[in-house]
Amino acid sequence: MSMTITVPPQQLLERILSMEIVRVTERAAVSAARLRGRGDEKAADQAAVDAMRRELNKLPIEGTVVIGEGERDEAPMLFIGEKVGIQAGPRVDIAVDPLEGTTLCAKSMPGAIATMAMAEGGTLLNAPDVYMQKLAIGPGYDRGVVDLDASPADNIRRLAKAKGVAPSAITALVLDRPRHADIIASVRSTGAAVHLIMDGDVAGVIHTADPDNTGIDIYLGTGGAPEGVLAAAALRCIGGQMQCRLILDTEEKRERSFKMGITDPKKIYGVEDLAKGDCLFSATGVTTGSLLSGVKFRKDGVIETETVVMRSVTGTVRVIKAEHRQLEKFHLD
Ligand code: FBP
Repeated sequence: MSMTITVPPQQLLERILSMEIVRVTERAAVSAARLRGRGDEKAADQAAVDAMRRELNKLPIEGTVVIGEGERDEAPMLFIGEKVGIQAGPRVDIAVDPLEGTTLCAKSMPGAIATMAMAEGGTLLNAPDVYMQKLAIGPGYDRGVVDLDASPADNIRRLAKAKGVAPSAITALVLDRPRHADIIASVRSTGAAVHLIMDGDVAGVIHTADPDNTGIDIYLGTGGAPEGVLAAAALRCIGGQMQCRLILDTEEKRERSFKMGITDPKKIYGVEDLAKGDCLFSATGVTTGSLLSGVKFRKDGVIETETVVMRSVTGTVRVIKAEHRQLEKFHLD
């Protein structure tokens, strides 16, 4: 009996790769988790980087790191421009943050994750490692309902009106930093709540996509540009809006960005400007947080992980709980 394949080859491969990228973030998370609470951010990050790189290099892709651990000179591994994968297969852009929330991991605090995105070659913004002003809201709102250049208080009122609630029913998620004092005051002046996080704005932005469950309506503030691109890849899959602007406040940063193809330093980027092609996104919990459970090392030797993996073509979101029994045997960790 002959079988008809109804899935186009490119999509079939992408479906397979969506499981493969789960492995990549799982391994990075397990390696980082072994160093939870040891107070050594560098060692935890390096362990995650090594594991992620090893797994990426097994994938049937012609991958290029566009969001990585830094420029070639300063980052020995997973640097921007590094080729990953077996260099056969689809040409893809890779964005990685092997340990998002290095301090959270080093202090064994909630919310550290290992994360990556994979996208059609040439479709992720090659963002320099600078700060980025970010605003994100979930799906279901008209474009223009909020505006990066409006005051936080204005944005809260506009969002509340669009949601059909009072501003006091809105919660904004903000990184707890002195630089955000004005944003926090402005949000609170409307009666809205501010949910502060210590670190981890990739997960922070993702929270806005599911306000009924996370209680978060809007993300506001300044964080890393690489994290902005990763969060955008996730929102491409699950919906939602972002408005972002790179903070290029020195000549050196403007020159560096220019070399990376950024010609308009004041440009406001939406989700599709940051991640314009089909993409996959995966994140595995390192420490337990509101998005994912952290790695568990059981007494019987089994290692448990929890991963969320998303695909933009279908908008499918899977949460994968895995039990790993033989990681050492297969030299996978
Ligand atoms: P690291 O894992 O690199 O420490 O990043 C954590 C993080 O909180 C990001 O989520 C966020 O974008 C960035 O740091 C904010 O930068 P800063 O800590 O300098 O305010």
